[in-house]
Amino acid sequence: MTDPKTKNSQTRYLSGVQSNGRLHLGNYFGAIRNHIQLQEKGECFYFVANYHSLTTLQDAEALRKFTFMAAADYLALGLNPDKALLFRQSDVPEVAELAWLLSTVTGMGLMERAHSYKDKVAKGIAPALGLFFYPALMAADILIYQSDKVPVGQDQIQHIEMCRDMAGYFNHAFKKDVFKLPEGILSEVPKVVGLTGGKMSKSEEASVIPIFGEPAEIKKKVMSIVTDSKGVDEPKDPDQNVIYLLYKLVATPAETAQMEKGFRAGGMGYGDAKKLLIAKLEEVFGGPAREKRKKMDEKPDLVEDVLLAGAKKARRVAAQTMAAVYEATGLPCSKVKKAILDVDF
Ligand code: TRP
Repeated sequence: MTDPKTKNSQTRYLSGVQSNGRLHLGNYFGAIRNHIQLQEKGECFYFVANYHSLTTLQDAEALRKFTFMAAADYLALGLNPDKALLFRQSDVPEVAELAWLLSTVTGMGLMERAHSYKDKVAKGIAPALGLFFYPALMAADILIYQSDKVPVGQDQIQHIEMCRDMAGYFNHAFKKDVFKLPEGILSEVPKVVGLTGGKMSKSEEASVIPIFGEPAEIKKKVMSIVTDSKGVDEPKDPDQNVIYLLYKLVATPAETAQMEKGFRAGGMGYGDAKKLLIAKLEEVFGGPAREKRKKMDEKPDLVEDVLLAGAKKARRVAAQTMAAVYEATGLPCSKVKKAILDVDF
C-alpha cells in the first residue's frame, strides 16, 4: 500500500519504453525496475513508445505484438495500474502535433548534436527524417504531461537536456510559461553489459537476455557467452567478465562476493559461473513473475483494459496542455478539433 506520507503527489514522473523488440535485462535494470519503485513515490505516467518504434520497425504485426508484450512485461514485473498510468504513446496523438510545434522553434544545431543520432549514422544507417526528429517527439512526450522528473538510462540523458532546451525556446518564443522544465533522473544501474561484451541493446539480438525468455532460451544464451581459455584454477579478473557483471545485478551481495572471490583466487570456472547465473535468473524472473506474464498472454484483454484506462487519463492531461499551447501560438482549437475530446468513451 502507498503510504500517503511518503507519496509526494506534487511530483510527476514520466517515462517511455520502445516496443521494437522484446524487453531485456538492460531495460529492466536501466529503467523498468526504477519505474516500478517510483510508483510509491509520486504520480507516474509510463507509456509504450510505439511512434518512436516506427523509426526502426516497419512491420504492423510485429509492432502490435511488441507493444502488447512491453505492456504485459511491465504489469508482470509489478506495475500496479491503481498507482501508475500505463498507456500507448499513440493513444494520445497530440504528442505528434506538439512535436511539430516544438520543431518550429528548435534550431538544427541542437538536433545535430544528438549523440544517439550521430552514433546511428556513424554505424552506417541511412537516417530517416523520423530518426533525426526523434528527440523532438520525445520532448513532446515529456512536456505534454507537464512532467517533473524523467527516470531513464544513461543513453537518454542528453535527450532530456534537449527537451529542456526546446521547452525554453518555446516559452521564450511565445512569451508564456507554457511548459515546465523537467529533470532527468538516472537509475542506479545506468548501463547493463550485453552478452557480447558491449552494451545490452535490442539492435543486437545476440547481446540480449529477454526478461521473460523461456528457460531453455536463456540457458542457451548464457552458455554462449564467449570466455577466454583460462582453466578453473587460474585466477581471473571478474570486472572484465560478462558472467560476473550480470550475476552482480541479480544475486545478493554475499553471493556476488563469493563468485568474485572464486574468480580472483582461482577455483571458479566459467562453466560453473554460467550455471549460477542461469539459476539466479530463473529465481528472479521465473516463478510468480513468469506465471503472471503467461496469464496476460492468455487474457490479453486485461492488458488492453489497463492501456485504455491509462490513455484516457493521460489524454485529458495532454488536452489541458494543448489548450495552453493553442492559446499561446494562435492556433484555434475549433469545435471540430475539440469534438473528439468531449466524447465520453
Ligand atoms: N527514447 C526512449 C528510449 O529509447 C523512449 C522514450 C520515448 C522516452 N519517449 C520518452 C523516455 C520520453 C523518456 C521520456 O529508451
